[in-house]
Amino acid sequence: MKLPAMFDNLLTVAVTCLQFGDTGKGKIVDLLGSWAKIIVRGTGGANAGHTIRLGKSEYIFHLIPSGILHDADGKINIIGNGTVIDPRILCEEIAFLQQQGLPCNHLMLALNANLTLPTQVARDRVGEGEAGAGKIGTTGRGIGPTYGDHVIRIGLKINDLLNPDILFAKVKANVAFSVRVLASYDPEMVKAILRQAYLGGGMFYHPEKMFDVDAIVRKYLEYGKILAPFIRDTDAFVRQNVGKCRMLFEGAQGTLLSVKHGTSPFVTSSDCTVNGLAEGAGLNRSHIQLALGIIKGFYETRVGEGPFPTEFGGDASAVWCSSANRELEKEKFAGATVNDKNELNRGVALRVAGNEYGATTKRPRRTGRLDLPLLRHALLSGSNDIVLTKLDVLNDCDEIQICDSYVYMGQPYRYGDRTISLGDNLEVAIPAAEVLWHCRPLYQTFPGWKRSLGGINAYGDLPGELIDILTFVMLRTGINPRIISTGADREETIFV
Ligand code: IMO
Ligand code: MG
Repeated sequence: MKLPAMFDNLLTVAVTCLQFGDTGKGKIVDLLGSWAKIIVRGTGGANAGHTIRLGKSEYIFHLIPSGILHDADGKINIIGNGTVIDPRILCEEIAFLQQQGLPCNHLMLALNANLTLPTQVARDRVGEGEAGAGKIGTTGRGIGPTYGDHVIRIGLKINDLLNPDILFAKVKANVAFSVRVLASYDPEMVKAILRQAYLGGGMFYHPEKMFDVDAIVRKYLEYGKILAPFIRDTDAFVRQNVGKCRMLFEGAQGTLLSVKHGTSPFVTSSDCTVNGLAEGAGLNRSHIQLALGIIKGFYETRVGEGPFPTEFGGDASAVWCSSANRELEKEKFAGATVNDKNELNRGVALRVAGNEYGATTKRPRRTGRLDLPLLRHALLSGSNDIVLTKLDVLNDCDEIQICDSYVYMGQPYRYGDRTISLGDNLEVAIPAAEVLWHCRPLYQTFPGWKRSLGGINAYGDLPGELIDILTFVMLRTGINPRIISTGADREETIFV
């Protein structure tokens, strides 16, 4: 697909999400993969699920950058220093590509990316299992403990896979720490988690010592052999090449899940903004010429726990989504439509229309209206250049609601030098769960466009109703749409 002339003058473009993730980063990175020479993923781990549709095939990658389908054209895909890598999953993704006959000859893995151990996956799962109402709803991939161990200086790096003695010493130290942490939990639960299929069905479990250090090291040295051809000083490589050839940076998760800027504490453990992405790729924000932020047009989803003011069906939806699955939902909500009088049903129908089920965990994603207070907050650490995706999902909606502000309904809350009081109107969201739980959204309602967007490839040909909503969002937030995606395929894209 031909990109507009604007891209001819650019050397660095970043793609991040301005919502709670799952906005279509995979499609956009794959699309721009033809433009770039180097594609770098800078944050997150196997918690991400990036989906690419190519003809009749659909590919989901958790760790490998979404530019990998351009490998045959000599494009270099890099997994950067800011990521957390479970080597089992990376080896599986490489094996998958090989089985499909898809090359990954130019893949590079940062020697200083963080290495996830079974100890960290176990701590993530045990912690969530015991957290009760305080649970985050993590993906159970060990993300938080891996980043946490990095920060408290007991984490491992990818390069440790190449040095057996150092690997052994570091695994031993990490196991000792992890055993002390896990000793405070119910031993039967710890045992059950260590025997889960995800953790190798008990292959790392030791009945007296909890973890079998030798078994971990043995397995990780095997992974190291498979990964060795890809391990490089990618920071040096990226710095040598920046400004010389076209680079594309792929974010993971979304700004509202950022550990620095998200709806704390219901967040992931990396900085999912363009700042975190640039650093995790080996650079800094000033290297990025065009920072594209993705939002779904005009709705939003969230997986896992945490406040979601505009959720269709509110608490009932959150509770349902925390234990439901697609099959159960099909049965219970058979007649639900996107125009249902019942909000919960409307949310379910939207989930079905948008196929909003986790690419990583298969969980139903909670659905809600586009939330401008949260978007205005996200824009503070992003840029106004926007990609709108999944607009086709709303084709059948009679009306579309956009949340323009909140009314605060909670106890007085001190926020620095301000006090937020009952009845206050908030146009910019405060990224703290204790405030967001008490925010009641105020909506503007617009008529839907009620027709397919198929075949539209110019901005001016979009339905008037759609343009009216977009104009409202632009005026109220200052966003500047650059790309509009009307479907999963590369061709279903409009450059503005
Ligand atoms: P992509 O890149 C949506 C969510 C989890 C949970 C929280 C913390 O596909 O957009 P973690 O396992 O990271 O400790 O979980 O973050 N989460 C995502 N939600 N898309 C993702 O990735 C996510 N990665 C993590 O559901 O609420
Ligand atoms: Mg995803």
